[in-house]
Amino acid sequence: MRSIINEKNLKNKKILLRLDLNVPLEKNKITDTTRIDKILPTLHFLIKEKAKIIILSHVGRPKGKIVKELSLEPICQELQNKLRKKVKLITENIKNIKNKDFFNNFKEEIFILENIRFYSEEEENDNRFAKLISNLGDIYVNDAFSCSHRTHASICELPKFLPSFSGLQLDLEVNALNKITSEITKPITCIIGGSKISTKINVIKNLIPKFDYIVMVGGMANNFIEFYGSSIGKSIKEKNSDKIVKEIINLSKKKQCKLIYPEDVVVSKGLNGSPQIKELSDILSDEMILDIGPKTIEKIINIINVSKTILWNGPAGYFENQNFANGSIKIAKNIIENNKAKKIFSVAGGGDTVSLLNNLNAVNDFNFVSTAGGAFLEYLEGKNLPGITALN
Ligand code: 3PG
Repeated sequence: MRSIINEKNLKNKKILLRLDLNVPLEKNKITDTTRIDKILPTLHFLIKEKAKIIILSHVGRPKGKIVKELSLEPICQELQNKLRKKVKLITENIKNIKNKDFFNNFKEEIFILENIRFYSEEEENDNRFAKLISNLGDIYVNDAFSCSHRTHASICELPKFLPSFSGLQLDLEVNALNKITSEITKPITCIIGGSKISTKINVIKNLIPKFDYIVMVGGMANNFIEFYGSSIGKSIKEKNSDKIVKEIINLSKKKQCKLIYPEDVVVSKGLNGSPQIKELSDILSDEMILDIGPKTIEKIINIINVSKTILWNGPAGYFENQNFANGSIKIAKNIIENNKAKKIFSVAGGGDTVSLLNNLNAVNDFNFVSTAGGAFLEYLEGKNLPGITALN
């Protein structure tokens, strides 16, 4: 994989830049700009090199149809504000634009093509569609790690027609993920939460052989608590998960990876009820587990303190309510402390974990925070991402 950062002579070159500008939109307003902020260094680099930039991105899932609410218009505006430069949204049908000279008709240096998923050919991974787009640029850059698990034309086919490079953000993401999958400094710990084990089973199975500790928290841990014989009251739990739980326990024994699950918890009668710390044996049938307890927090902190690498995916409890955010906050603060003392390398990922860190204003206190959802998990599962393979 060649990075665009090492390329010289980009002056006046037309760069087809695939970004993931799939940001949450509410009534045409962006509610979280993290993904836009992250790719600004790539744009600043290309601007400095005096390249012409043609951005390709999707937002939402319009399924090959023009959906007005999923226009890139508000994203174009936001980019313009952040870059303090004019960015031109090209709404013309890409198939009617014959070649790159089209862009000479405008004085702007940054263009953004309307939502690439308005064309069914994108998700069909259509080779001819990719060829047609390739006629608009001289160079292709993928800076959309979070889309690189998709076999789509602008990710997988386009690089076949142009000299292709990775972008700055994609480089950072792959380097950080390599430090938790292949170039590991041990001891390494994964703190994993979320409500469904079945969605994370392949990640856990792939990590166990390489990891020293896997710490189960959040709703997922309830399945382990119940499996080991305690009542979990009316806590969330995934049905028929005993087979998966057994599989995880057996594999971790075989690979000498220590599996940790909560030994005390914070319960309540409802999501807005008052919190109560409880031993596992004391949970009543009308109570639900909403956070980890102090003994568990201490145990996790001790594990973080002896680790050199940490991966965190999934909060420890129902952090949206302050009463049940203590476990997640203590974990975050401890990782940050170790990080500041340069004792660990830390990676966090997953929608809830990222919003927790955003709430704590702590995104920059981790070595890397991934905003990629599906691609992040598939990478951790050990899969080859087609978008990365295409760059190689
Ligand atoms: C994401 O939000 O994870 C990426 O933009 C990919 O979006 P998708 O899941 O709709 O393919």
